[in-house]
Amino acid sequence: MNILLLGSGGREHALAWKIAQSKQVGKLFIAPGNAGTAEIGENVPLSATDFEGLKKFTLENEVKMVVVGPEDPLVQGIFDFFKNDEHLNRIPVIGPSQNGAQLEGSKEFAKAFMVRHNIPTARYFSLTKENIEDGIAFLKTLPAPYVLKADGLAAGKGVLIINDLDDAIRELNAMLNGSFGKAGETVVIEEFLSGIECSVFVLTDGKNYKILPEAKDYKRIGEGDTGLNTGGMGAVSPVPFADKVFMQKVEERIVIPTVEGLKSENIDYKGFIFFGLINVGGEPMVIEYNCRMGDPETEVVMLRIKSDLVDLLEGVANQNLAEKELVTDERAVVTVMLVSGGYPGDYEKGKIISGLANTKNSIVFHAGTKAIDNQIVTNGGRVIAISSYGKTKDEALQQSFTNATVIHFEGKYYRKDIGFDL
Ligand code: AMP
Ligand code: GLY
Repeated sequence: MNILLLGSGGREHALAWKIAQSKQVGKLFIAPGNAGTAEIGENVPLSATDFEGLKKFTLENEVKMVVVGPEDPLVQGIFDFFKNDEHLNRIPVIGPSQNGAQLEGSKEFAKAFMVRHNIPTARYFSLTKENIEDGIAFLKTLPAPYVLKADGLAAGKGVLIINDLDDAIRELNAMLNGSFGKAGETVVIEEFLSGIECSVFVLTDGKNYKILPEAKDYKRIGEGDTGLNTGGMGAVSPVPFADKVFMQKVEERIVIPTVEGLKSENIDYKGFIFFGLINVGGEPMVIEYNCRMGDPETEVVMLRIKSDLVDLLEGVANQNLAEKELVTDERAVVTVMLVSGGYPGDYEKGKIISGLANTKNSIVFHAGTKAIDNQIVTNGGRVIAISSYGKTKDEALQQSFTNATVIHFEGKYYRKDIGFDL
């Protein structure tokens, strides 16, 4: 079976790595991919949101399954595009319908969904310019700090946490007046929750589900979780506080009501659900949903799945996921991200990466790379994710840190404290 995977980051390299291990795969295509995915499949120079281009490619290359890495094509409706096309409707797209993708595409939609299905989440108020006075009144009922979220996709930058009430009111006005473009025309104000976060991933066929290994990511650029937010500087799995008792609560209070809620509202959802959770005194609450896998969490989660991923994805497509077995690896896995100097601010691309062939006992995923004239160069803020197994998290970290010194490019930076809080 030929598979087309969409996306170009570390998440997609990790998905490609896992998919390529399946005996069921004929050709693996990645659109657009990166220098790492080119080593295990065939990169296709098409954007993940070029639906017409992807249609043509799919039909010409006998693609039998499309796996979607990032959220953009899902929020733009790639599932529905395939479903509604007479030539494509037999080819499964792993990912939700446009309606289902609203769990990530609209914070307001996600909050209202959680309230409808009694899923634990922070109290909120959703507003537009029309009812700003009600929004300010709600803000005044909350203790500091104040959480403001742009409703729409904002490349991970749409959440503001503000200590002072006057500043929060000012920011609220700015958002409603376009500081986040269209994404901020609606704003969700939330009660601030205090606790430690983790990411839980579910694969669902719309009827049943499998809970994949959980992970914790490290979003800030600086050690000790300081400085600006990034796409993610590293990840660890398993997460010690996500023990049996905690995960049972997650399943009963969050996963089951979510899958059942989608079903009861006739929302087509065959794909990954990412639950961004916070542990508030032992009780899991939902901070956000995403309609795809996490990055860099995928770079650890895929290593902890022993089962054939394509077999599981076929279970999703054929709605017989319940018959499939998910076997996980007991070992600890970590990933450490090497990023460009200056990231998440301005940074330069095109720096030559050396040492990739000299790493040992890690799996090196490319996040932002490109091949030019037989050389691999940096092509993004996040450049390389170094994933390792260990008997313990610390053993795995040592392995990744050792290889982090083997790979070189001008301006390389990485956090040396991944997992510090666990
Ligand atoms: P999001 O884009 O929704 O994941 O939000 C980004 C980050 O903001 C989350 O990972 C949390 O660290 C933080 N955050 C979002 N909502 C809340 C909340 N209600 N209380 C505390 N922190 C929050
Ligand atoms: N690691 C968080 C995300 O993928 O959104």
